[in-house]
Amino acid sequence: MCGIVGYTGNEPAIDFLLDGLARLEYRGYDSAGVAVLNGGNIAVEKTVERIGSLKRQTRNGRSLPGRAGIGHTRWATHGAPSLANAHPHLSADGRFAVVHNGILENDAALRRELAAEGVAFRSETDTEIIPHLIRRYYEGDPVAAVAKAVERLAGSYALGVLCADCPDRLIAARRFSPLLIGLADGATYLASDVTALLPRTRRVLELADGEIALLTPQGARLFDREGRPVEREASRVTFDVGAAEKGGWAHFMQKEIMEQPQAVAQTVERRISGGEIVFSGLRLDAALLSRIRRIAIVACGSAYHAGAVGKYVFEELLRIPTELDLASEFRYRNPLVGADVLTVVISQSGETADTLAALREAKARGSHVLSIVNVVGSSIARASDDVLYTFAGPEIAVATTKGYSTQLALLYLFAVWAARLLGRLSADEAGRLLDAIRALPQAMERALRLAPQMEDLASRSPTDGSIFFIGRNLDYAVAQEAALKLKEISYLPAQACAGGELKHGSISLIEEGRTVIALDCCDRLSDKLAGNIREVQARGARVIACVPEGRAEPSAADETVRVPAVHPLLTASVEVIPFQLYAYFVARDRGCDVDKPRNLAKSVTVE
Ligand code: AGP
Repeated sequence: MCGIVGYTGNEPAIDFLLDGLARLEYRGYDSAGVAVLNGGNIAVEKTVERIGSLKRQTRNGRSLPGRAGIGHTRWATHGAPSLANAHPHLSADGRFAVVHNGILENDAALRRELAAEGVAFRSETDTEIIPHLIRRYYEGDPVAAVAKAVERLAGSYALGVLCADCPDRLIAARRFSPLLIGLADGATYLASDVTALLPRTRRVLELADGEIALLTPQGARLFDREGRPVEREASRVTFDVGAAEKGGWAHFMQKEIMEQPQAVAQTVERRISGGEIVFSGLRLDAALLSRIRRIAIVACGSAYHAGAVGKYVFEELLRIPTELDLASEFRYRNPLVGADVLTVVISQSGETADTLAALREAKARGSHVLSIVNVVGSSIARASDDVLYTFAGPEIAVATTKGYSTQLALLYLFAVWAARLLGRLSADEAGRLLDAIRALPQAMERALRLAPQMEDLASRSPTDGSIFFIGRNLDYAVAQEAALKLKEISYLPAQACAGGELKHGSISLIEEGRTVIALDCCDRLSDKLAGNIREVQARGARVIACVPEGRAEPSAADETVRVPAVHPLLTASVEVIPFQLYAYFVARDRGCDVDKPRNLAKSVTVE
């Protein structure tokens, strides 16, 4: 959700703070602020605009000298986006400044307690409680004060703390929200995401839940909940800094759409050895798998839509009943999971609060949890029994594309691997499917060549009224993702409807000129969908159909988009591409902020 940065070192802190915040802006961007320590005083600058205006306000940082500082880019939870609510927040005497990512659950009680002691609050945020608490416990040792303050907090937090009495120090703490420390010669960094650190260092220390760190220009000392020192080796981040930059593309989303064939190839090829699928280090084995009676797929947003594809593929190949749940529903519905249920959790960021809570719920009930995650070492990855990484590289655009595609690829691979293990797929069938999965990147490459057609369709797209995406089975799963993509970045109402469900209500919205996009790649159900196409056309809709190349029968649609024909279980991977492009071009043409759509954030670390 929010982004946090911090710096202590031999250079002006503001340089990294502004650069790091710009790189983290995708996490939340309704306001931002920095605090820099200079000459024993903390100076703060905030904006309710983008990081660019913080740069202008500080004359590119020149108005905020000092070698230690913290910064924050916010996605509002408590209180509207405003200067008062923007972080950093200060203690009443201005001696402590705090940036926070996460959400406190006992903020009302703590606010009452502090107000009764005479604290006058200046914001509506839960965060402001923290500097006041630290100040209350401060007796000359800032680490001890932070330790006492965080002991009082319920909920999640990643904190960066600046103390006016400690010229070159930062204090950091975390619980259920990500926080990393970057180590370099003469400088130590703090960031909620590795993308902020990459241009400066690849040596990274991950703070574990409940730990506190003291950062100096020479490095970091870690302490556990009881204040005991913790020794941890820094790890080395291997991915390319260019992966987190636009590299000549107009938007990250466009770049990430184009990177999909490569990302899928990487995800797949790393799992293949001697023509076989190999998931090294997986605890899930034939014995455990043979005890599984049901699979529960749990995720949010696009990851949930990837799960919708997974459900079809699992049931087809594994013949194990598979349920699909929204994490936010699963966690509160007393789910029927236990040792005979495999819970498959899907998350690009690995930090989504509802997904993490659902995972914990499933684990507490004895279910084996396998997660499909992109961000290595993320909270979901660490909390799972088994993890399969998607290796998509950093995904910066809020609207996921390569994250979704690589999730699909891993779901296919997992299904084939597990079906073989259970003896439900012959070696020949598995080989054919594996060849088809390995051929996907080329087919996706060809689907990307539809960009000019999608750009043209987008230029003729309606600017008001709802756009419908219809489909059946796997096509319906893709329809849901296509509709989400369009609405989240273009702000046009879009909805997905299962073809057979139209006449149960939604068809009343079809009228003259309504655009209906019919996803028609499922050959087996094409006749059925043709009926739905005729039904909406009879009521005045203009239909654009997406069909596989080489399909003989002409489509009844007004316009046709042809995607490469692939194995019938894998169609989602190519079919989604033209509609990612369509959403992108519609949003771009409408002048929307494609990479940072309004009201959204990349990783949703609050409930
Ligand atoms: C998709 O474009 C979204 N931005 C969103 O739905 C996202 O997929 C969802 O929040 C889940 O995120 P995760 O994969 O990081 O858990």
